[in-house]
Amino acid sequence: MSDKKARLSIDGMDETIELPVYEGSTGPDVVDVRSLVGKGIFTYDPGFVSTASCDSAITYIDGDKGILLHRGYPIEQLAEKSDFIETCYLLLNGELPTAEEREEFENSIRYHTMLHEQLRLFFNGFPRNAHPMAVMVGVVGALSAFYHDELKIDDPAHRRLAAHRIIAKMPTLGAMCYKHAIGQPFMHPRNEMSLSENFLHMMFSTPCEEPDVNPVLAKAMDTIFLLHADHEQNASTSTVRLAGSTGANPYACISSGIAALWGPAHGGANEAVLKMLHRIGDESKIDEFIKRAKDKDDPFRLMGFGHRVYKNFDPRAKVMRQICDEVLDDLGLEDHPLFRIARKLEKIALEDEYFIERKLYPNVDFYSGIILQAIGIPTSLFTVIFAIGRTPGWISHWNEMVSSSYRIGRPRQLYKGHTKRDYPG
Ligand code: SDX
Repeated sequence: MSDKKARLSIDGMDETIELPVYEGSTGPDVVDVRSLVGKGIFTYDPGFVSTASCDSAITYIDGDKGILLHRGYPIEQLAEKSDFIETCYLLLNGELPTAEEREEFENSIRYHTMLHEQLRLFFNGFPRNAHPMAVMVGVVGALSAFYHDELKIDDPAHRRLAAHRIIAKMPTLGAMCYKHAIGQPFMHPRNEMSLSENFLHMMFSTPCEEPDVNPVLAKAMDTIFLLHADHEQNASTSTVRLAGSTGANPYACISSGIAALWGPAHGGANEAVLKMLHRIGDESKIDEFIKRAKDKDDPFRLMGFGHRVYKNFDPRAKVMRQICDEVLDDLGLEDHPLFRIARKLEKIALEDEYFIERKLYPNVDFYSGIILQAIGIPTSLFTVIFAIGRTPGWISHWNEMVSSSYRIGRPRQLYKGHTKRDYPG
């Protein structure tokens, strides 16, 4: 901790309040405002634009430079040289695994990919046309019912087991949402496959034939999961931390993260991008939609554009665009109409003063939907894909918080309601 100080003087107050200033290993300094409540003062920051909610060593984002580091490693290098399972290990443990650590971790995850047979029955209660995120919120929250003997959150072994279980079971649950929706039998995970290969197998194989997973699509799926793995204190991760700060079990906390991710302003944007591209429908309509996106009186926004932190290209979007090229090329869809509209839309927006002035660039959701659709994944499952990818990030932040000293999260408010008044009569 530095001995830097901030000094706050407020009209009408005699004293100047001295506040400690802390420096991180990189990034902005923070002012510790905790003592203000003792002076009868709150800070005010709806949307937490300027608020650091915690210490963390997992992910660092420099929004102005378009930098994203996971435990110090740039996302571009992880996307090129690592894979999803290794990135899960890195986020959870802080270092890249040795060969034997990786094998042990991958085997542990593999061992937990199956679900309790009773939990499979939960799906019978959902209508076939239920949104898959509604199913995921329900079944993930229910997982704790099957593991209530191993939920001592102050026991590192229980935390590790819960982390491995949830990382391993999310792809199985996601594929089951799809099979339930189309009326096909659930497919069991296969132990000779990687997590991402297994996901495509459980999604698209049937009991009537041997699995046949396209390696190009499996690699693309793996990189998509990797690109979504973590993103510091975004809305869903902050939700997981807040739920975890009450001592709730990890499955309930992940379920709360899934619920928060569902919104179109957050993880639901990938589904919203595809719906937007279909609505645009033709390159000739792009200008009309750009005009609507700039119109304050029109609620329409360019989905997949803009970001609270990135005021430069989202580095994940650059990798995603490259994967998009590769997948469409492999599938002979390089002239995919939606991809053509997306590329044209990106070009026009990046040259438009409104977007330049507000530093609105494509984010992680802009291209991912096109790749997922090309792989054959239905739009309604796009945010489930995001949730599967983000699970290692969520559970790593939960673990980081629960394994350190933490307090229950309990923000205050600027009260604008009635002052005290007596009940009439
Ligand atoms: C994710 O936090 C994370 O890290 C999230 C995420 C992760 O990995 O966890 O990166 C994943 O959620 C990516 C974002 C996906 N959402 C979308 O693509 C939806 C479209 N984007 C917007 O809804 C918006 O950009 C947000 C929600 C992403 C950011 O909102 P902010 O930071 O609150 O910004 P804002 O709404 O205050 O916008 C600032 C200005 C406004 O105009 P003015 O009032 O200044 O005139 O920019 C405009 C906004 O109207 N604006 C847009 C726009 N996004 C912002 N105008 C048109 N289209 C857009 N997409």
